[in-house]
Amino acid sequence: MSDLIQTISVPVDPPYEALIGPGLLHSCGARIAQALGGACRAAVVTDSAVAPLYLSAVESSLADVGFSVCSHVFKAGEGSKNLVTLSALLEFLAEERLTRTDCVIALGGGVCGDMAGFAAGVYLRGIRCVQLPTTLLAAVDSSVGGKTAVDLRAGKNLAGVFLQPSAVLCDTRCLATLPPAALADGAAAAIKTGVLSGEELFGLWEHGDPLAQPEEMIARCVAHKAAVVAADPFDTGVRRTLNLGHTAGHAIETCSGYAVSHGHAVAAGLAIIARASARLGWSEAALPARIEAVLRRSDLPITSAFSARELAEAALADKKRTGGDITLVIPEAVGRCTLKKLPVTQLSAVFAAGLEG
Ligand code: GLY
Repeated sequence: MSDLIQTISVPVDPPYEALIGPGLLHSCGARIAQALGGACRAAVVTDSAVAPLYLSAVESSLADVGFSVCSHVFKAGEGSKNLVTLSALLEFLAEERLTRTDCVIALGGGVCGDMAGFAAGVYLRGIRCVQLPTTLLAAVDSSVGGKTAVDLRAGKNLAGVFLQPSAVLCDTRCLATLPPAALADGAAAAIKTGVLSGEELFGLWEHGDPLAQPEEMIARCVAHKAAVVAADPFDTGVRRTLNLGHTAGHAIETCSGYAVSHGHAVAAGLAIIARASARLGWSEAALPARIEAVLRRSDLPITSAFSARELAEAALADKKRTGGDITLVIPEAVGRCTLKKLPVTQLSAVFAAGLEG
């Protein structure tokens, strides 16, 4: 099976590797020891949905190669991604006397990666973190690149730190336990990456069955993200293209009171900005239909019931607005996306163009 394991280098400072393949959780101890240069005290951080499935396998694999393991489980769900959960996690790391040479291991989806990564980034002013993503969304996007955050009352992801992991191990067998809606959430992020990266990845979604043997598709997503993050680790330039579909997507999440999940909202946001870009003459005319067809194949939405005005108002309350302008990611063609700065007064018209039939 090891021939199915894909290795993607993430050339940041210091560089690290993302491994993608079946069964990696059961051999994670040796691989993590290799990435860290030896065993140490390891705090595994996971949630109440993931712990019954994978925690004991990870603890055993770590203990087998000499790690001294402690584990912290918090309640599953976006509702836990806050300063209260973070505070409990930091107190746990302190009670367990982790030192600067120890490490935090994030076992779970995006919320877990964010919580554990944030805690590792601020505990003792920063200790090492390894990401073990168990959802498709975390595998193709959030586990790589070092963004961590918690939600504040004022909005999502408003407090956080950048902390690049020391390694990412994505066990593709975990995808088998995901409900269809969670798989679709990950598909949305992967399709977005396909539009950004080019025909090879987008074509897997357009013509293939990328979830049948997901290693290649995940590796392509991670390779694209690795290149972008290496060019712009702190999200001040080209990394912002990874927010394709997010302006309308975040607005849909906000307007729905978070009843629409992030992946489903980004899917609709991607279709909306693709249609708007074609109508406004910024992109290839055929692009929206291709994107819509691919999203539909994954049972993802391609529009929203909220009005252009409602979406624009929600988007302009978002943290990405600076001054009187907003920067949108424009999909010009598969593999060609640009950043476009617009006066905020034009956003409602752009959304209106994207919501039209
Ligand atoms: N998920 C977008 C980023 O990491 O920049």
